[in-house]
Amino acid sequence: MREIFYIHPLGQLFGLFFGIFNLVTGITRKWFSVAIHINVGILFYVTSLLGAGVGVFVARYARHTGIPLDMQTHKAIAMVLIVLLALGATTGFMLLSKKAVKKHIVLLHRWVNVLNCVLFTFQGVIGLMSLMTM
Ligand code: HEM
Ligand code: HEM
Repeated sequence: MREIFYIHPLGQLFGLFFGIFNLVTGITRKWFSVAIHINVGILFYVTSLLGAGVGVFVARYARHTGIPLDMQTHKAIAMVLIVLLALGATTGFMLLSKKAVKKHIVLLHRWVNVLNCVLFTFQGVIGLMSLMTM
């Protein structure tokens, strides 16, 4: 049943592609379409938030079966990331509705999402390292 440990890492890696796609198309404005951006953005937030839940279950299963997994740092970053992902999504939806505060929100949306992708990648490195030492 060791395959179960790969569900969360593979799911999150898959989700990261959506984030990188939106980040690159958003910053460069090449092939940027708001409709695609919203759908891909929602896929990114949904996969990463659901994926975090799956991670908790699999980590619990690992502890239950006596498999040593040191996920303390990964878990702490995950808590910060969950808040930042929610902020990324909220600012995204604000951009769709509130026209007056747009300039600042665009900047906030951009930098929060840059940070999301950086932390996400860092999570991948820490996570894969723990998997390899398992
Ligand atoms: C709920 C999902 C999302 C919504 C509704 C949304 C909405 C938007 C909108 C409306 C714009 C255009 C702002 C303007 O008028 O110039 C925008 C720009 C942008 N978005 Fe998103 N977005 C979402 C998710 C994401 C994600 C997941 C990322 C990257 C990880 C991202 C990165 C960016 C970037 C880099 C820009 C360009 C900002 C700039 O020009 O400085 N967005 N977003
Ligand atoms: C490619 C990126 C990632 C990789 C390779 C990865 C890897 C892992 C691994 C190996 C575990 C141990 C359980 C298991 O095998 O499923 C884990 C647990 C976990 N992951 Fe990730 N992860 C990634 C991204 C993320 C992200 C982005 C979040 C948060 C949004 C997250 C949140 C969690 C949480 C909350 C746990 C449970 C920790 C615990 O209860 O001790 N992970 N991750």
